[in-house]
Amino acid sequence: MIILLGAPGAGKGTQADLLVDKFGYVKLSIGDALRRQIKLGSEVGKEVEALVNTGKLVDDDTILKVLKAELSANDPSKVLLDGYPRNINQATTLAAMTQDYPLEMVIHFDLDTSEIVDRITGRRSCGNCGASFHVKFNPPKKTDICDRCGSGLSQRADDTEEKVKIRLGVYEEQTKPVVEYYRKQGLYHRIDASQPVDQVHWQVLSAVDL
Ligand code: AP5
Repeated sequence: MIILLGAPGAGKGTQADLLVDKFGYVKLSIGDALRRQIKLGSEVGKEVEALVNTGKLVDDDTILKVLKAELSANDPSKVLLDGYPRNINQATTLAAMTQDYPLEMVIHFDLDTSEIVDRITGRRSCGNCGASFHVKFNPPKKTDICDRCGSGLSQRADDTEEKVKIRLGVYEEQTKPVVEYYRKQGLYHRIDASQPVDQVHWQVLSAVDL
């Protein structure tokens, strides 16, 4: 299992999709899983909707249930975990699961917060497969149509400037300590996420040794 860490909009999902398309990895995005539940109108979806749409973290117990359901269906050696852990409690919970899900590496997409608002407010996401594009930096081949599955693209409810500020605050306070937690361990790789998509992809390939 490879953990993808980074601030909102740092490019975790974009890079995970490239590894999925080219090398047969499986992307497990907790954010995508939560948005699927919201779209379905399930009990979990109703519980988490307000938090996800305002950019605040969902409680750890609910997230652990979602994570376990997602992990159980997949080959752990091929899993790219996008969006977990986001606080120290989640990191220690995951550490206790390494017998079943051995951790290969942690890739940290390091991006200055000044670039994040532009990336997020210009993002267009696929509600069907979770792929993300950017109106300027990574446009789809056809306007507002997903290159991967052909569904329509739209703007996420939490992708407004106001919500980005909340999400960045949550990242600074709760997720940055997770970066430090892994930095002290041998499996940590930093990626300069400020470069264009293809150059970030090359850095990822060299970290993963593909
Ligand atoms: P989630 O969906 O995980 O959102 P996030 O972490 O905020 O990450 P993003 O999806 O916004 O960013 P990304 O890094 O994937 O960027 P992307 O590749 O799309 O979580 C949503 C919510 O769910 C949370 O706020 C919380 O409520 C809840 N949640 C999830 N996990 C949880 C957990 N563990 N515990 C509790 N709650 C949880 O790129 C962004 C844009 O930039 C795109 O438009 C893209 O095309 C563009 N771009 C990408 N790379 C580049 C590049 N190199 N150059 C230029 N543009 C680029």
